Amino acid sequence: METNISKTPQAVAEAFADHFIALARANNTLSVALSGGSTPKILFDLLAEHHANSIDWSNVHFYWGDERCVPPTDGDSNYKMTVDHLLSKIDFPEQNVHRVLGENAPEKEALNYAEQITGDLPSVNGLPQFDLIILGMGGDGHTASIFPHEIELLDSENVCAVATHPESGQKRITLTGKVINNAKEVCFLVTGAGKTEKIDEIFHQSGDWKSYPASYIQPAFGKLTWFMDEAAAEKLG
Ligand code: 6PG
Repeated sequence: METNISKTPQAVAEAFADHFIALARANNTLSVALSGGSTPKILFDLLAEHHANSIDWSNVHFYWGDERCVPPTDGDSNYKMTVDHLLSKIDFPEQNVHRVLGENAPEKEALNYAEQITGDLPSVNGLPQFDLIILGMGGDGHTASIFPHEIELLDSENVCAVATHPESGQKRITLTGKVINNAKEVCFLVTGAGKTEKIDEIFHQSGDWKSYPASYIQPAFGKLTWFMDEAAAEKLG
């Protein structure tokens, strides 16, 4: 496991963007699962502004590690956020955008999306393998849409599952733990003082770390990097 600590959220996005561009240049194709959240938004703006022509975007395939069960026009849609901040601003082939159909019935869509992923990606260790999965971590230790009260989704035998946001009750589709941990590479983007305590507990295996889904993201055969700002990493010393 590696850590990459930058001063500000903007600098975290810059550090990850450099890593992403290098990875895209080094690979003929790159399957990437995106996440929602505040730092990806900065990342997408940055990629659109500075890297529209840095790589051949037709080599990149975008999927989502989690999506809210809302139509693609809804302000809550992770797909919409990606369109608004990145896809509408670069030359990105439509056929490489593999969105979760958040407008469909959740249980059915979890199966459909799992089928799509399984059909598209190489099977390694009996599971589809993403080249790169980008994750955030919530202030409650959730990652993708695997929340503490549904921590069993980490061990699900299914590729995708329906999750429920603990406060709003909003349904979400999420990749499950085994698929996340089967990726070639997983990168967390975590920023802000609201994450300091959880980062401290997870990294020092103290307090309630065992109840945080993010603690269990440890790709068995792949690489894991935590990109953080100084505020989130404050207690790492
Ligand atoms: C989502 C996410 C979620 C997010 C974390 C962190 O769609 O909400 O994918 O897991 O990454 O909640 O979000 P922030 O970076 O905004 O704190």
